[in-house]
Amino acid sequence: MTSQYRVNYHLRAHKRDNLIEFIKGMLLTPFVLHSQPAPAQLPDGTRETISSSADDDSRSSPEEEANAERYAGIFSNIESLINEHRELTQHGIPSYSRLARLVPSIGTFFTALPLERAFRHINERNKISARKYVPPSFNDIRRILNSAQMMAIAEELQLVTFDGDMTLYADGQNFEPDSELTGLLIGLLQRHVSVAIVTAAGYGADAARYEQRLAGLLRGFAAAKLSAAEVGRFYVLGGECNFLFRCRADYRLEFLDDSQYKSSALRSWTDEQVQQLLDVAEADLTDCVQRMGIQARILRKPRAVGLVPSETLTREQLDECALSSQVALLKFQGSPKSQPCDVPIPFCAFNGGADCWVDIGNKLIGVRILQELVASPPAATLHVGDQFLSTGNDISTRAACCTCWIVNPDETRSMLTELEAILDQKQEHSG
Ligand code: IMP
Ligand code: MG
Repeated sequence: MTSQYRVNYHLRAHKRDNLIEFIKGMLLTPFVLHSQPAPAQLPDGTRETISSSADDDSRSSPEEEANAERYAGIFSNIESLINEHRELTQHGIPSYSRLARLVPSIGTFFTALPLERAFRHINERNKISARKYVPPSFNDIRRILNSAQMMAIAEELQLVTFDGDMTLYADGQNFEPDSELTGLLIGLLQRHVSVAIVTAAGYGADAARYEQRLAGLLRGFAAAKLSAAEVGRFYVLGGECNFLFRCRADYRLEFLDDSQYKSSALRSWTDEQVQQLLDVAEADLTDCVQRMGIQARILRKPRAVGLVPSETLTREQLDECALSSQVALLKFQGSPKSQPCDVPIPFCAFNGGADCWVDIGNKLIGVRILQELVASPPAATLHVGDQFLSTGNDISTRAACCTCWIVNPDETRSMLTELEAILDQKQEHSG
């Protein structure tokens, strides 16, 4: 069946997260039915005041409280749907869950998500339930999901992997020397949590290039006089999953050849296969450049090919390049119905915000390599990134671990501050 709905759905899929859209839809009903646009106008022209007394400006009105309870009820129900989905996943039949019927593209939840508690926590700060004109949005729900994920994972946390560009530093920039993130990452290492940067940026085995981009952070490690054991828990994985480095006691990065860790089976492709695939990607990106009249260079690397524009491109142009090369590579390797992770040579064709790249391998493999290295199961691993749409390069990690979707380094900072507070509370209780 090719209904107009299906056509529209597929044309929009790369701009949507289906679970978030589903939750947004659920919250829209109470918003429309119960949020009054303004205090009622009385027949004599005056307005009925429902706000709090002058001496307590922050007190919620009964209307707002009722609204918060309705939203909280919805989050509690979604929490139950997720629990049922988790149970059926454990029995090997996730597609029988009610959630899978409602959101067919739903993936795996490695932990339960305390969504009601997270909603109340975020609502206390942002007063979502006090809004009358702007319904709970994509970003509100994304932040609630993040908060719930941190509450759920804190106790077991063993490994946090971070995307680089737009997660720890601005696009194409270096880790800032005075970034507040330095202290927060050090805090994780000191709590015996392993930390890794899993980035698409691919500079081969050239440790100096990565050291240059991360100089601000590495200097922070030195200033804090981190011990060899503490910095030994810090890794950098470049080219999605291709080039692994570990921090040494002298705060320099050391390249780890893949014979030094077991997961090479995850990347068993030959150079000939890689070059063939990159030829297809290069031809398709060149076609995009011509087709859309884009001013750009095509850069070829040993494990990647990139379209680097000399003008600012729109999101639509870059999405078109990413989707076009995805389809070309899927067709070349088998069926266009498969996913980039299921084909003989997994790849990642993504919109990097200002450029478009096709990398051999992906962050799913990257996270799995690190999980194996530090013995961290999916429920104890968290990936933090900014690219979770189908044209992004963080989305593949969802199959390997819990995730947190941020939109800029400042959100990473507030997310880590919140995580730190949860960890401190847990420590107090157990101490
Ligand atoms: P990430 O957000 O840390 O994964 O980095 C993505 C960005 O790294 C891309 O948007 C590119 O600008 C940059 N980059 C540099 N080298 C490569 C490469 O070999 N493959 C993909 N991206 C690269
Ligand atoms: Mg990024």
